[in-house]
Amino acid sequence: MSVVLETRGLTKAFGGLVAVNDVSFKLQKGELLALIGPNGAGKSTCFNMLMGQLKPTGGRVFLMGEDITGKSPRDIWRRGVGRTFQITATYASMTVIENVQMALLSHNRQVFRALPFAHRMHRARALELLGMVGMEAQAERHCAVLAYGDLKRLELAIALAHEPTLLLMDEPTAGMAPRERIALMQLTADIVRDQGVSVLFTEHDMDVVFAHAHRIMVLNRGELIADGSVDQIRNDPRVQEVYLGGGTVFKSEDEAADA
Ligand SMILES: Nc1ncnc2c1ncn2[C@@H]1O[C@H](COP(=O)(O)OP(=O)(O)O)[C@@H](O)[C@H]1O
Ligand SMILES: [Mg+2]
Repeated sequence: MSVVLETRGLTKAFGGLVAVNDVSFKLQKGELLALIGPNGAGKSTCFNMLMGQLKPTGGRVFLMGEDITGKSPRDIWRRGVGRTFQITATYASMTVIENVQMALLSHNRQVFRALPFAHRMHRARALELLGMVGMEAQAERHCAVLAYGDLKRLELAIALAHEPTLLLMDEPTAGMAPRERIALMQLTADIVRDQGVSVLFTEHDMDVVFAHAHRIMVLNRGELIADGSVDQIRNDPRVQEVYLGGGTVFKSEDEAADA
């Protein structure tokens, strides 16, 4: 196994508030790793430091063994760290396939010179990527008419166009119906398995996390309080306490299967 991402003592203070406190973890190649925790636990702050949006006040971040602490978002993206974008990152006036072609042009740094020919370029690869996310049949539709879940799948194809080594997904299923959430995470798990991409994601639906994550880390008030397998996390008293405090009771595996 090789380590794709590693943090050592990652810390971010906003004035007196320590949002992320001394967080150390490793993400192995091919892993689908969940970062969970109550609202305000520091998950997004962690993601923003990994993506370069925020500079840590302490600690280091290593990508494939290389220190990337404090590098710009653009630099980190160029080194193969992708992320799922907000909906606004797709062009509503363009078709599904054109959005993926644009991402492929950008990945190949052809964007400005090639624009007039864009509709002819990278069609085969774009269709292949759309196939991976089950959007091939909708290739010629305009994004403006897509269902929300389909836009999310398109975002995933766009992120994959950059051939990321690591994909960071901060609440990728926000705003989706439970059934769609399960489907998107299943798709992500398939992509991790088939494409060898590693994924770090946050998600507040525990059923989705327990069903798909290979490993789970739990953040509470900025501190990593647990890191282990689905079963270890489900049965961890400290984790249960954090979630019971918030009113959440974990379902047993059988109950989850029945739901
Ligand atoms: N830019 C910021 N300035 C000040 N405080 C912030 C900022 N971003 C986040 N915080 C605070 O840091 C804590 C962690 O927030 P966040 O990382 O968004 O948590 P999560 O994503 O787990 O819900 C919260 O108390 C939040 O209010
Ligand atoms: Mg958040």
